[in-house]
Amino acid sequence: MSDTQSYIQQNKQRFLDELIELLKIASISADPAYNQDVLNCADAVAKHLANAGADQVEICETKGYPVVYGEKIINPELPTVLVYGHYDVQPADPLELWESGPFEPVVKKTELHPEGAIFARGSADDKGQFFMHVKAFEAMMKTNSLPCNIKFIIEGEEEVGSVSLAGFLEENKEKLSCDVILISDTHIYSNEQPTVTTGLRGLSYMEVEVEGPNRDLHSGLYGGAVPNPINVLAEMIAKLHDEEGRITIDGFYDNVEIVSAEDRAVMNKLKDNPEEFKKSIGLSGVEGETGYTTLERTSIRPTLDVNGIWGGYTGEGAKTVIPSKAFAKISMRLVPYQTDEEITEKFTKYFEKIAPASVKVKVTPHHGGMPYVLQSNTKEFQAAKKAMEKAFGKEVLPYRSGGSIPITSLFEKILGAKSVLMGFGLDSDAIHSPNEHYGLYNFYKGIESIPYFFEFYTQQ
Ligand code: BES
Ligand code: MN
Ligand code: MN
Repeated sequence: MSDTQSYIQQNKQRFLDELIELLKIASISADPAYNQDVLNCADAVAKHLANAGADQVEICETKGYPVVYGEKIINPELPTVLVYGHYDVQPADPLELWESGPFEPVVKKTELHPEGAIFARGSADDKGQFFMHVKAFEAMMKTNSLPCNIKFIIEGEEEVGSVSLAGFLEENKEKLSCDVILISDTHIYSNEQPTVTTGLRGLSYMEVEVEGPNRDLHSGLYGGAVPNPINVLAEMIAKLHDEEGRITIDGFYDNVEIVSAEDRAVMNKLKDNPEEFKKSIGLSGVEGETGYTTLERTSIRPTLDVNGIWGGYTGEGAKTVIPSKAFAKISMRLVPYQTDEEITEKFTKYFEKIAPASVKVKVTPHHGGMPYVLQSNTKEFQAAKKAMEKAFGKEVLPYRSGGSIPITSLFEKILGAKSVLMGFGLDSDAIHSPNEHYGLYNFYKGIESIPYFFEFYTQQ
């Protein structure tokens, strides 16, 4: 075993103890009530980077939450790997569904994680994952084995759309110059079948409002003669899909990448396990676009989902009322070569078109982001594949994921570098949900794989 790997084995328990401390900080970026916690978390991350051996550690102010920076330049002639991650987390609610406090980390064994998993908000998304990089870096520093230059940017606004990061990249192009970006903020297919993510979906997120009468009306006196905005909205939403599960928005599929039969065959080597899938989320059946497997539906196909819907009376008991307004939040996951701008426009036009003349419709776009692809024949992908194969002792396959990390396409545009998505979570980690957890096996495999990535990437 190399010195680096034995350093990791010898310091395993401390790495976990340190992560537990980091997970106690409630760095929820979406909720202003946690402002101080988010800032405290940035401080903690900066201290960890400095202790691990980084130079120029800095808490860089932005218009929003700060970006934590650190670097180790061993030789300007050698390649530079930029590690990206986020120290902010999603809100923890609904709190009553957590078995232990979201910011009181506990290690528990589960069926999927016989070695134990750490339960806390942010354990998998993304504190537990970016922290693997800090610890792998520490191991390389302590054993004098860092083979190339490294830079870190750990941001605090990923969960609210990385609002300040694009500006930060533009202003710091020189400082952030690099050959490749390394990110652990995704998941593998399973611990038996490790994967490197080769694609992420984009996102277009809309809020819609349907307005009927100028005030809430008595549903007896007016009901039957006036448009009910909730009924109308429900009908409009129902019209957004056809019987084949396809999205009906005009031109929605115009720019969708046609994945070759060959690539689909490779992709489907990752066997769908429908029974396991259904069981894990308590469903008796799955559904989606005709002609595609579950794996394809959640990766290479675009989707449209209502994320929330409200209006009228939702309090205790009954109130007979026809509401004046109804609302919904609707997200669309995009695939290459759709753009969020294009889809936002097509959605707006279509939604206005299908609205009955009796109501007023307002469509407001929220944040969006572009899809991202890393071809598996690139040296970036190959280095990650080899690294994980060495750590897991298993063949590693390419995997297109359904989630979004919009900043990856901006990294490419602004810094001119590809992102390698070497994440170690599992889809069952319950990220964004109650009881989020991260397997200790995954945490340690990540720390073991990262130094191999540096080695293989530098050798090429
Ligand atoms: N880490 C996730 C994205 C992710 C998770 C991608 C697992 C692939 C596999 C990230 O923190 C996230 O939650 N992204 C948001 C988008 C963002 C604009 C709020 C998402 O995918 O909903
Ligand atoms: Mn994340
Ligand atoms: Mn997230």
